[in-house]
Amino acid sequence: MAVPLSPFVLAAQQAVAHALGTEPEMFVVGTPPNPKMGDLAVGCFPAAKALKAAPPALAAKVVESFEATEMLVSATAAGPFVNFTVNTEALFMHLAKSALGDEELIAKSPGEGKSICVDFSSPNISKQLAYHHIRSTVIGHALVNLYRALGYRVVGINHLGDWGTTHGMLLAAYHRWPPAEPLTIKTLNGLYVKFREAMKEDEGLGDEGRAWFAKLENGDEEARKLWQHFKDVSWAEFETVYEMLGIKFDEVRGESAYVDDMPGVIEMLDKKGLSSVSEGALVVMLEEEGMPPLLLRKQDGATLYGTRDLAAAMYRWNEYAFERSLYVVDRGQSLHFKQLFRTLEKAGYEWSAKCSHVPFGLVRVGGKKTTTRGGNVVLLKEVFAEATERASAKISENNPEWEAKRVADTANTVGIGAIVFANIMSQRDKDVDFDWDDILSTSGDSGVYVQYGHARCCRTLEKAGIEDLDSDVDFALLTQPQERTLGLALSQLGDVVAKAADHNDPHLLSRYLLDVVSDFSTWYTQGNQDKALRVLCEDEAMKRARLSLVAMTKAVLKEGLGILGIDAPNAM
Ligand code: ARG
Repeated sequence: MAVPLSPFVLAAQQAVAHALGTEPEMFVVGTPPNPKMGDLAVGCFPAAKALKAAPPALAAKVVESFEATEMLVSATAAGPFVNFTVNTEALFMHLAKSALGDEELIAKSPGEGKSICVDFSSPNISKQLAYHHIRSTVIGHALVNLYRALGYRVVGINHLGDWGTTHGMLLAAYHRWPPAEPLTIKTLNGLYVKFREAMKEDEGLGDEGRAWFAKLENGDEEARKLWQHFKDVSWAEFETVYEMLGIKFDEVRGESAYVDDMPGVIEMLDKKGLSSVSEGALVVMLEEEGMPPLLLRKQDGATLYGTRDLAAAMYRWNEYAFERSLYVVDRGQSLHFKQLFRTLEKAGYEWSAKCSHVPFGLVRVGGKKTTTRGGNVVLLKEVFAEATERASAKISENNPEWEAKRVADTANTVGIGAIVFANIMSQRDKDVDFDWDDILSTSGDSGVYVQYGHARCCRTLEKAGIEDLDSDVDFALLTQPQERTLGLALSQLGDVVAKAADHNDPHLLSRYLLDVVSDFSTWYTQGNQDKALRVLCEDEAMKRARLSLVAMTKAVLKEGLGILGIDAPNAM
């Protein structure tokens, strides 16, 4: 996958490659341990073997032949590393063009003409969205935005869980205990729980559920009609949550959409000699790969989750010829996806290598796993409401003069943004432990902290009342080390976005935004100690240059938050 490199990173790679006569792509560009040593560090290790020379000798060779360029002013050797100093003016000119001017902030070239499928959220109907659904939803949404920012055609897919024996049980429950209309998702969920409870006492209920599912599979009119009703009620409820999060799907195509493809899939596997009967069920044996078999059809003839996923994967390939097809699903389903991809590979579909499961850790609230089976369900809507309420209290305290509507709107953005950020910020494979004080902290690692940094930029710019900061600015004035540090950080947005997409991990972008705000704060608050270092200083030209850096910071924070699916209010 092509990675858009900032022109400075590119220049550093080229300088080393040119001096050593190797390919530039082999070198990794990082930052020196101490900013005094330079802005960018390139280790010479990758060239050592081919050139039969020790890395420190290679670093010395690079420095010896280095000539200043438009991008890089000097190079020094530090052991096996070459440290480069970036041309300050070029750095800020480049930033001004991309963050404030007409050039794009993130290069769109990597994804041109390529498609990515992202299967995310994908809840089961007739169940409320509980808190654990949020990780798939927000991580998936951020992935959609990351790839889109890089120019890919992204298909965000909601693979609704709307088929299977569960839905037969629901139909049976509905007939046993007809509920009052208008039906709610809560009632449906209650019916299901009640049915499962009753099943423990009465074995016959299981058959009743299976019989209803068979009717559904066979296209029975009554069963279909009622099932559609459950689906409509569920979707209406899901949509309110997606709306709160600003999420739109490009394709809402549930498991039921693949029912007609089932016989074809089963026939194909049979023809290729991959299916066999085991204990009355039709399966794909995966013994060689040390996995249990993938179930295709149960003894009673009902098809399964895995069969429908086979059909869905094939549909996506035929429809979109994807570069990658991602499944953002909790790590509890890792085995399912391994079986799925391996089966496709065995069937000879080379594109199965482009499919990946993007797993994530659990969400705990107060140390407890959240679930819909047991009683302790933490509903997403309730969590949102609480976040918004808490944010609202803080916002009205900070802005006593604001009208109620403005407080409410901002509290929505801040409260929901805080939850989204908290779910992305913790490393994807780690569990999230949910703590209100942490996620709404204005100083710690939180979305609020990043939004607050953005609002601070807005306030400073508003106070100064100067526009057109993209031209007529003398960037050579920005010589403070903190200004360079911030500028260099800002110039990495595109690289960070590309890396986050490459690893399917938006967490990297959230970390980056926290770093940018921290660099910004360090620089900005210097002015508290030393008047000459203030952004809104006396010297007009200096003030313009520093304000332009504020405006660039604002643009990068807004863009980055937007990719994570979070709005950035101008004040809070
Ligand atoms: N509906 C499933 C669940 O809630 C998740 C579906 C994920 N996507 C897929 N193609 N299997 O557990």
